[in-house]
Amino acid sequence: MNFFIKTFGCQMNVNDSEKIRQLLENKGLTLCSSEAAADIIIVNSCAVREKAQEKIFSYIGQFPSAKKIIVAGCVAQVEKEALFKKKVKIDYAIGTHQFYRIGEILDKIVDGRRAEAAAAFNRQWQELVPAVQARSSRVSGYVSIMEGCDNFCSYCIVPFTRGREKYRPMAAILREAEYLAGRGFKEIVLLGQNVNHWHEANGGRTFPELLRQLARNVPVPWIRFITSYPGYHDRELLQVMAANRNIARHIHFPAQSGSTRILKKMNRTYSRAQYLKIVRAFQAAMPEMRFSSDFIVGFPGESDHDFNLTLSLIEQVEYESIFSFIYSPRPGTKAATYTRELAPGAVKQRLYALQELQARIQLKNNRRWLGKVIEVLITEKHPKKTGEVIGRSESYRVVNFASRTAIGAFTRVKVTAVGPHSLRGEEILKSADA
Ligand code: SAH
Ligand code: SF4
Ligand code: F3S
Repeated sequence: MNFFIKTFGCQMNVNDSEKIRQLLENKGLTLCSSEAAADIIIVNSCAVREKAQEKIFSYIGQFPSAKKIIVAGCVAQVEKEALFKKKVKIDYAIGTHQFYRIGEILDKIVDGRRAEAAAAFNRQWQELVPAVQARSSRVSGYVSIMEGCDNFCSYCIVPFTRGREKYRPMAAILREAEYLAGRGFKEIVLLGQNVNHWHEANGGRTFPELLRQLARNVPVPWIRFITSYPGYHDRELLQVMAANRNIARHIHFPAQSGSTRILKKMNRTYSRAQYLKIVRAFQAAMPEMRFSSDFIVGFPGESDHDFNLTLSLIEQVEYESIFSFIYSPRPGTKAATYTRELAPGAVKQRLYALQELQARIQLKNNRRWLGKVIEVLITEKHPKKTGEVIGRSESYRVVNFASRTAIGAFTRVKVTAVGPHSLRGEEILKSADA
């Protein structure tokens, strides 16, 4: 039997899909490169915004009923049996904490058992490490260090889709990272909803110590981590980063809003002033430090003044990149009960204004690179242009250039043109290669 996995949502889901793929391949099933040839389609779903959730139903709706459809991930976790009442045909729903049971579930489906949902949370960490061949990248190795979220930001469904925080043991994290480094991965990306809240039980070691151990013992050029929650910032992190040059000078540090009043309503536990203070401390410890962020616009009660505070925060931090979203009420969250006064058109205007400001900042920052040489890791071939590759700088900037250097190598590129979203340049080959 053949299967296909379609992944929506964040890196957590990408990582879970890799694990699902490995479990099914171990069972003797074959992964197909397209839906058409697959007997079973696994849809790893995201529930973070309404649109993300709706997308999965239009996706499933296109398939003939002979195909077996399994909905996995976040929508399966929160919707459970309600999924089978939708207009589209679904054979099984398997929540975020149950996917290790996928083999057993497939046997049931093949036996023709009726639709079922498995969505219970387990309290134990599930130690499932995907083999190298099941990984979606051979360059960036994703290593899950924690699962779930205890923060309950008032707009967010993730604590409901992923359950409470659970932390993976340090020894297992180190083992996986060393394994990847030994197989030629060039960067290790630590994954979790609040990576900087990772800790051992009973006052044991915390995230800065985990990073220190990784930086010292794992021979990879870049160590990254996503996502850090500003409310859990610990000064020791700055010392560890500053002392270890193989930790990339880039942090995804979602602010969500620049207004302390709105941050409070969002149940984020830091103020604008505290956030900026942390950013300045990073920059003081490491002048080359760069930031990226997520922002939500149109949160209930966001006034013009609050929105302007978000814009001014963006101007002050000069982020490398930003993900910006229109607030989407999620069932069961606290903010879903708040009244929204702003018309959808006005919220869209705010989103465009924010994106326009950020594009201006990125263009200004990128122009500083014109004529200079930037070091990049070649992560992939350009999907459309033959002979071209895509590289990523330490701060995750996209650099496009023509190259015959292998994917996964570091190289130097002289920047010849810039836009707001990427740089373009010419590779500087070492004299021996030229
Ligand atoms: N754990 C991560 C984020 C997970 S969700 C963190 O705390 O940063 C990714 C992003 O989606 C969030 O940072 C937020 O900007 C956005 N988001 C989450 N819930 C949302 C909602 N209800 N409406 C709009 N955007 C939302
Ligand atoms: Fe959601 Fe907040 Fe947890 Fe991030 S920290 S996953 S935004 S509840
Ligand atoms: Fe979406 Fe679940 Fe990630 S809701 S953003 S796939 S944790």
